[in-house]
Amino acid sequence: MNWMIVLPVLLVLAGLRFVKPSMLGWAAAWWIAVWIIMDFGFAVPVPKSVVKEFLGIVTLALAAYVSSDPQRWAEVRDPMVAFLTERRHLPLLGLVAVAIPAAVAASIYLEMTAPAQAPTFGRTVHPAPPATLTVHDVTHDMQTLDNPLRSLETSDPEAFAAHLEEGRRIYYENCFYCHGDLMQGAGMFAHALNPIPTNFQDSGTIAMLQESFLFWRVAKGGPGLPEEGGPWMSAMPAWEQFLSEEEMWEVILFLYEFTEQRPRALHAASGGEGH
Ligand code: HEC
Repeated sequence: MNWMIVLPVLLVLAGLRFVKPSMLGWAAAWWIAVWIIMDFGFAVPVPKSVVKEFLGIVTLALAAYVSSDPQRWAEVRDPMVAFLTERRHLPLLGLVAVAIPAAVAASIYLEMTAPAQAPTFGRTVHPAPPATLTVHDVTHDMQTLDNPLRSLETSDPEAFAAHLEEGRRIYYENCFYCHGDLMQGAGMFAHALNPIPTNFQDSGTIAMLQESFLFWRVAKGGPGLPEEGGPWMSAMPAWEQFLSEEEMWEVILFLYEFTEQRPRALHAASGGEGH
């Protein structure tokens, strides 16, 4: 509650008991008090649509209260009728008749002339991958996709080492120009690129990703980034054009091996550190 606003309003309402305003003044005071409290009285702002709805209800409630008794109704109606019909109120009436449409016109004008702002694009470094991924005419389900070579790490260490060697060759033939010989994203081309190539030593990159995510990024590169990944002018090539599926899985093995990171995995059993 915004007591700096609510307290004075409550005090004024309490004071009305002593001032004894006319029924019309009383209804108006309550209406304005409710509006001020709803619109400014809460530390967390109430949505405008809720304020409007609530004020609509308050208007109905006040109207019901005021009109439920002939005496109260006369107290409200008579001054209004007098204001509309008596000659002496004519100048003020004229002013009101002009002011209401003028206020509406002004508010519409202000709304229409608000400067148009270009939408901002925050970019997501690791945008959500698609549900399915088609590489070399094979469609994978991203939910279940995993590195098919990973299990060899325990079941056949020799074969695993051979795949790692392949991964090393692939990395130094293709990736190190950008991602660098230490995988810190400081390859010889890196300085010309914006965004710069990913630093795989950084624990915020491959260590927090699953191998399927890397497979997607390696296969589809910068061109495969979804809208939310923009505005990346990512130079990361789509390696499906140059590498076989197995080669992409092999180079991914090598990224983890070289940086001594573990892929993020759903199950501890598959070798990761869990969530
Ligand atoms: C022409 C420069 C270039 C080359 C060559 C290159 N990359 Fe990249 N790569 C980038 C850039 C720039 C980014 C960062 C922007 C992005 O995410 O697209 C990136 C991002 C990535 C990512 C995403 C990491 C993350 O945290 O989301 C992976 C994985 C990756 N590269 C793997 C590779 C592999 C594997 C190779 C070699 C087969 C390779 N890159 C070759 C420029 C390159």
